[in-house]
Amino acid sequence: MAAAKRNHETAAGWAYHDATKHSFRSVRDKVHFLDWPNKPLPFKIYKALDPIELPREFPPLDMPALDAISREAETAGDATPDLKDLAQILYYSAGVTKIKQHPGGEIIFRAAACTGALYEIDLYLVCGVLPDLEAGVYHFSPHDFSLRRLRQGDYRGVIARATAKEPSVTSAPVTIICAGTYWRNAWKYQARTYRHFGWDNGTMLANLLAAATALNLPARVVMGFVDEDVNRLLGLGADREVAFSMASLGRTSRPAPEPPAEIERLTLETEPLSPSEVDYPAMREMHAASSLSDEEEVRQWRGAMPEGKNPGPQVRSIPLEPFGEDEMSREGIGTVILKRGSTRRFDRGSSLSFEQFSTLLYSSTREIPADFLGAAAGATPGATAPGAVSAGARRLNQICMIVHAVDGLEPGAYALDREGRALEMIKAGEFRREAGYLGLEQALPAEAAATIFFIADLNAVFERFGNRGYRAAQLESGIIGGKMYLAAYAQGFGASGLTFYDDDVIEFFSPCAQGKSAIFQVAIGRSAKRRMEVAQAVT
Ligand SMILES: Cc1cc2nc3c(=O)[nH]c(=O)nc-3n(C[C@H](O)[C@H](O)[C@H](O)COP(=O)(O)O)c2cc1C
Repeated sequence: MAAAKRNHETAAGWAYHDATKHSFRSVRDKVHFLDWPNKPLPFKIYKALDPIELPREFPPLDMPALDAISREAETAGDATPDLKDLAQILYYSAGVTKIKQHPGGEIIFRAAACTGALYEIDLYLVCGVLPDLEAGVYHFSPHDFSLRRLRQGDYRGVIARATAKEPSVTSAPVTIICAGTYWRNAWKYQARTYRHFGWDNGTMLANLLAAATALNLPARVVMGFVDEDVNRLLGLGADREVAFSMASLGRTSRPAPEPPAEIERLTLETEPLSPSEVDYPAMREMHAASSLSDEEEVRQWRGAMPEGKNPGPQVRSIPLEPFGEDEMSREGIGTVILKRGSTRRFDRGSSLSFEQFSTLLYSSTREIPADFLGAAAGATPGATAPGAVSAGARRLNQICMIVHAVDGLEPGAYALDREGRALEMIKAGEFRREAGYLGLEQALPAEAAATIFFIADLNAVFERFGNRGYRAAQLESGIIGGKMYLAAYAQGFGASGLTFYDDDVIEFFSPCAQGKSAIFQVAIGRSAKRRMEVAQAVT
């Protein structure tokens, strides 16, 4: 029986958003202590499935990172990934890239930034026959860099149907599905975890899209699907783990077969994450209220926001000055992803050049191929080419920032005019103290060179996309934030995602942000550690 259609009952979306806001008061009233012995495993481990090892030897992904994050694959014909391509894409999106020892044990770090290093997003593949891989449904296991087969056979038709025949999915040899496990992140962040699904899934997709571009494989983010059908295919117990987004990968002229009449229920045992788990019903409620229940609902859901008015205050417009082709960093995307880490302390005394800052803003805010950001393009050869025009607004988030130390740019608050490739000044001033406060009183945004905020008009998002628009707004911010991380590291400086005091951010940027909602924050600048290391090296 199909679930009730609740996506347009947006009181549920607002209730979740309002209940999970941080404020000066809330972080003091609702103190949460971490239960260390109960800390969840950062991996999903199937007890009885044999690993299918992924190849570990692959050529470096050497397309310049700044190109890889700002472009899409340019291929008109069929493009089918082989196992080596898949291994690279999985590694650079969700693979284990470093392990750090500390007195209490070890921390395993992955390719993309993730709140609390808790890694609550898992990747699954649904593919037809690929070179070196049988058709099937697989789980990617980063702990031993292998796949585990959950189902044998070609189930792409199930995904094609669940997405109401989204053209890029229908023609994809493989679709990667990203699913979030509540408890793995809620152990620390409680009910706010549902927002983190979007952020942490987004940083992963930023890497995935860049790796796909570097391999010249078309890829497109898809958020419109019948939740129950996808969760059932992957064998997810939706009270604990839910599909959040997917990315079609590659293109084939041989369409997916019809889905089987019956999808057997999967019951595959996995290792417990912790001795005990705490349930946060607000997230399950938000998920249910933002679920799509049939193909017709999915078809109506996808598309774009109506084109809005440029919200900038038009006070003073400063054109961005990104580096030209021949001055730009050419460091390869593979190397940059391996170098990336969140900056733990920024050097307050260092600035960025205006060109570096412009390059970061420009290259990380190009169009994202996604079913909520414009007309479907994946199935039409050539239509994904840079510059292709699609109807409607191609963004959900507005980008505002507080600049402390960018050469030639007066310190102050600015809004980014993405079409005009310019900054618009909101107010001038030294706002380090305010930035630190807004970022939950952390030193990072006060000491960075600049801190960038994602702000969405949730009224308009809910009106067009219902509660599921909330998922999309969080995801878009995470994708752009993830690209900002890569653009920073490609140019030799650092970045860190941040959480924030929701309503205070809006107040700070008002009247420009009035009536809108804070979605995400990323600080950028030079690492203090790096400066210390350089000083040590020369003395
Ligand atoms: C969405 C997001 C929000 C984050 N928020 C904070 C934060 O508020 N404070 C902080 O110190 N680090 C924050 N981080 C950084 C994470 O702690 C970091 O990504 C994680 O420890 C993994 O380390 P790595 O990024 O160096 O690989 C955030 C990261 C992301 C992706």
